[in-house]
Amino acid sequence: MTHAPRSPDQAQRRVLLGISGGIAAYKACELARLLVKAGHQVQVAMSEAATRFVGPITLQALSGREVALDSWHPLRASGMDHIDLVREADALVIAPASADLIARAAAGMADDLLATLLLARDAVPTLLAPAMNRAMWAHPAVQRNAEQLRRDGLRLAGPGSGAQACGEVGDGRMLEPEQLMWEIEALWQPRLLHGRRVLLTAGPTFEPWDEVRGLTNRSSGKMGWALARAAWEAGAEVVLVAGPTALAPPHGVRTVAVETALQMREAVQAELAGATFDVFIAAAAVADWRPEPQPGKIKKQPDGVAAPPTLLLNPDILAEVAARADAPFCVGFAAEAEQLVAHAQAKRERKGVPLLVGNLGPQTFGREHSSCVLVDAQGVRELPRMDKLDLARRLCAEIASRLPARA
Ligand code: CTP
Repeated sequence: MTHAPRSPDQAQRRVLLGISGGIAAYKACELARLLVKAGHQVQVAMSEAATRFVGPITLQALSGREVALDSWHPLRASGMDHIDLVREADALVIAPASADLIARAAAGMADDLLATLLLARDAVPTLLAPAMNRAMWAHPAVQRNAEQLRRDGLRLAGPGSGAQACGEVGDGRMLEPEQLMWEIEALWQPRLLHGRRVLLTAGPTFEPWDEVRGLTNRSSGKMGWALARAAWEAGAEVVLVAGPTALAPPHGVRTVAVETALQMREAVQAELAGATFDVFIAAAAVADWRPEPQPGKIKKQPDGVAAPPTLLLNPDILAEVAARADAPFCVGFAAEAEQLVAHAQAKRERKGVPLLVGNLGPQTFGREHSSCVLVDAQGVRELPRMDKLDLARRLCAEIASRLPARA
């Protein structure tokens, strides 16, 4: 996961980052740095226990602001940091959230600055990133408290699973700072796809010719990844069927890795057989043909002329899904080299999809920005060139507005 510099239309947000006592506090330093790098203002508040793990001066240097440490030495002239800091914030993030803090927050206690901020937060979007030993996290008391906080409208992110500082392995690791960045940015997105299930294809496909060579294309997968993230942020349950790319599997999304068009088709069909999806987005650049695969490694001929591969037509995954009686709302992409609108309109009709997103391939493959046209039964609309994540959020909003109301 990478964080490109924010484009000028992305608002600078104010994040109040509360750090409670736990070894994962060291990862909160990296989170503060990523937030600042992404253009946000960060105000850090630390519990007394947190200062045993990392020094406030570290967080002060990373955030460029003095750290709030307790209610008796307030930063604000009013003397009321527990109110003022949270009123100034666009999000309150507690990372790590210890078992002790979670218990005190669930009980509505106000016995230190962090607990009091959680009580005084009012409507500020709030995220907690639990971090503790796996047996502590599994304890019914902690699970009860966590559930109470969810019911109170807080978002809990993680914990993740894996090796723990104590040497044990299991659920309880704080999410990585990069994953928390996604969770924090999601706090500010409307949940337009809440309760919906979205299936996506993305990336190129690789079609083996012999055991070492193959046909592929220049798709980086970035647009599909951005769509998976935007759909997840909007509250959808997302499954991504992904061809080979250099990108890490997106946070919060179930990723099914495939290589060839035939594998991609099989994975899509298996997902559709296993559950009902509201939306299918075909963002993959599926190879139109596959070579008839040859065993071993094809050797050079003495005359220097290579025998061309025999090419077989691949199935059209999108057209097949759109033709199903139980077809989800289908969205196709058209990467064209010229005559964008005419080709996109023809493609929409040929594939039988309600919405087609057209763009000029050479201007979008591998780039951070993209522009496009939206083609539906009503006509053609142009969207300006923007960051792929902004474009993906916009497309998710367009899709959400076209979905039939749920029964
Ligand atoms: N698509 C697909 N399966 C294929 C080919 C394309 O699902 N075998 C999907 C793509 O994911 C995209 C849309 O169909 O959403 C259009 O892809 P594109 O390659 O532009 O269209 P083609 O059908 O291959 O048409 P052409 O290459 O002739 O322009």
